[in-house]
Amino acid sequence: MAIEFSAAVRRIPVYPAAAGYALPEDVALLASNESPDPPLPQVVEAAARALAGVNRYPDPSNARLRAALSDRFGIPAARIAIGNGSCDILLAAGDALLEPGAELVYAWPSFSVYPHLSAASGARAIQVPLDGDGRHQLDKMREEITAATRLVIVCNPNNPTSTALPLAEIAEFVASIPRHIAVILDEAYVEFNMLQLPEDSVDLLEKHPNLALLRTFSKIYGLCGLRVGYALCGSEAFRTAVDQVRQPFFCNAAAQAAALEALNHGDEVTRRVERNLAERMTLEESLRELGLTVAESQANFVWLDLGEERSEADVMRGLAERGILVRAGGALGRDGSLRVTVGTQAENERFLEALGALL
Ligand SMILES: Cc1ncc(COP(=O)(O)O)c(C=O)c1O
Repeated sequence: MAIEFSAAVRRIPVYPAAAGYALPEDVALLASNESPDPPLPQVVEAAARALAGVNRYPDPSNARLRAALSDRFGIPAARIAIGNGSCDILLAAGDALLEPGAELVYAWPSFSVYPHLSAASGARAIQVPLDGDGRHQLDKMREEITAATRLVIVCNPNNPTSTALPLAEIAEFVASIPRHIAVILDEAYVEFNMLQLPEDSVDLLEKHPNLALLRTFSKIYGLCGLRVGYALCGSEAFRTAVDQVRQPFFCNAAAQAAALEALNHGDEVTRRVERNLAERMTLEESLRELGLTVAESQANFVWLDLGEERSEADVMRGLAERGILVRAGGALGRDGSLRVTVGTQAENERFLEALGALL
């Protein structure tokens, strides 16, 4: 007899694995919104030093990293949650807030992990379609709030569409949500967003104890392989709850040490953002020259519409044969689109040349 799994396992969506293309040896990895830059040598050294002590469990309170983030953003360490990637905090928030009968509201297409929260908990997910430009329709999301709503997620900039809303619109939205409903503002790409500074949204936390800003070391800091993210919370209660539902040692020692060191290199972060922005602008311009519709990106990736006459599967296959991996829109909620990470100049040029040839 087969093993009998829980209803949650039957509900949780399986992220489609990339098709098994025959890839050449040298592949441009433009599918996962990673940083093309490796971590700084000082960051690698800090992680290596931590490895020498892994016969001991890591600090379960993540004290040094939380203290450094507290200094950086001017909010008490008691209101800073750390996670095994920011996804860990997101899933913990689902565990802490949702249950059958509860509701969760978010835009769609958006980050592929959000549907897990309702599937795992048995809560109902209300997905509010993005507008034609790939932006959240905050007024329509507000209309979906009911007595059963426990959590609202806003992804800004939004993955996969790359667009962002001005902070003033988000502030107005958050202010309109009743205080007993948690709001997560997922800002995984905030450092790339030219509409605001990463510090700007932190001010909202003082007015809104029900708000949490979800951030990560995976993107601009180039540490996705180590898994470390954080949440800046409006209340200590949110941080306590997401810690309560997880195992004690959710962030490993090397990740804590690397993130702590990474925070000392703000100048390099600025340089990387500038390089990424310059590449993103070139990429967007070149794609528009190819006659494609490209969303206005505020992230480290671009979102383009292939148009009705082109098959997404054919373009994906053609790119893969030329050693370029991007993400198919179909897997992310919108057929006929592509999500392409901004890579190095050479990778971006290679992608443009390949796409030009295929179109
Ligand atoms: C919108 C968004 N939020 C959160 C994450 C999770 O990142 P991590 O778990 O690596 O911190 C991602 C990763 O791609 C993302 O796109």
